[in-house]
Amino acid sequence: MQMTQKEWKPKIVAFCCNWCSYAGADLAGSSRLSYPAEVKIIRVPCSCRVNPLFILRAFQRGADGVILCGCHPGDCHYSTGNYYARRRMTMLFSMLSFLGIEPKRTRVEWVSAAEGAKFSAVMNDFVKTITDLGENVKLGDLRCKESLK
Ligand code: FES
Repeated sequence: MQMTQKEWKPKIVAFCCNWCSYAGADLAGSSRLSYPAEVKIIRVPCSCRVNPLFILRAFQRGADGVILCGCHPGDCHYSTGNYYARRRMTMLFSMLSFLGIEPKRTRVEWVSAAEGAKFSAVMNDFVKTITDLGENVKLGDLRCKESLK
């Protein structure tokens, strides 16, 4: 059987805090729990390091979905960073919805360093959701799309 059209795969950006979610991703890897290769992890010191503009920039550069993972509320290495992140993302997501971006394209998840299985499950589920939604056509900068070809 010959494939005539290249199978479309979503581009997913996952911002993971260093102290919990990135360690959770590491645990998923060392436990041989798989998650899709479409997920590109960006390690940040804390979830509150993620400026909402980073997420807009990711969409501008061609991301189809963006997920922010951090420590569980109350467990942030910097005490309250994830509370700030949660508030910022709530504001950003309502703005994105106003701009016509489907709410399912963005997500916040709390994943601890001991939750490799959760990390794997969350990423598999998120990639499936974005694959079902299809390519993101909003906010994309055409100049960036041309440079990615
Ligand atoms: Fe993980 Fe702050 S260090 S959310």
